[in-house]
Amino acid sequence: MALIGAALTGCSNSLTDSDEKQAEEAPASSAAQEDEKESTPASGEASTSQNEDIVLSNGMIEVGNPESVEVVVNKQRKLPEGYTPPDLTVPDVPFSFEEDHPKKQLRQEAADALEELFERSDQEGMDLVAASGYRSYERQEAIYERNVEVYGKEETDTFSASPGTSEHQTGLAMDVTSAEMAFKLTQAFGDTPEGEWLADHAYEYGFIIRYPEGDNNITGYKYEPWHLRYVGKEAAAEVHEQQVTLEEFFGYEPVGEAE
Ligand code: DAL
Ligand code: ZN
Repeated sequence: MALIGAALTGCSNSLTDSDEKQAEEAPASSAAQEDEKESTPASGEASTSQNEDIVLSNGMIEVGNPESVEVVVNKQRKLPEGYTPPDLTVPDVPFSFEEDHPKKQLRQEAADALEELFERSDQEGMDLVAASGYRSYERQEAIYERNVEVYGKEETDTFSASPGTSEHQTGLAMDVTSAEMAFKLTQAFGDTPEGEWLADHAYEYGFIIRYPEGDNNITGYKYEPWHLRYVGKEAAAEVHEQQVTLEEFFGYEPVGEAE
């Protein structure tokens, strides 16, 4: 893992910025293409495990603690059907766009922490802007389906979560960028002062860089230096100290092999 310093070695990939680009361009979803992984409802076939996660008949897990700030959502661990997080609010931070939009929202605790992070980063000369926080299941579905249309499923699965499996649906994730990046979400952000500052200091406010460089085989996604995930100060400090992924920190199986 390379959180600190984030010295990239030419692994910038323009496809990763399509996450939000497609988010902005995605039309309202009409044709609901079923994704095999997402098509099995929680049902009587399910069995429970020790932490009240539910094992679905297709082998996926439905998380038992969706409202916990320590919830782990990934390609194997989905949110309950119809999940909407409580206490969504708009943090008082600069955004990369002006209009009202649900994606400005975060859970209250995460929003408070983001405000503190932005205040400190501003004091230290950084120029961060927020770009995309909460996404409903339906919005993630539209983004994912649009990405599949444009890039194909295999490539899409390296940078875009299928509906029900995105951290953005928890209200605990915010994508951030800067004017220097022309407000784009690309891996080059990790080499900017803002990206390096986040890698060094986000944990002090309870955030982690959720998809670190070189850990795609564990997280299932390519490096996203812009994707901040709120986990609370205690867990964030430990994750930062140990330089591990959230999967490793909580002892979950690696989930992916994205390149
Ligand atoms: N880009 C991250 C993986 C998401 O779609 O939630
Ligand atoms: Zn994100």
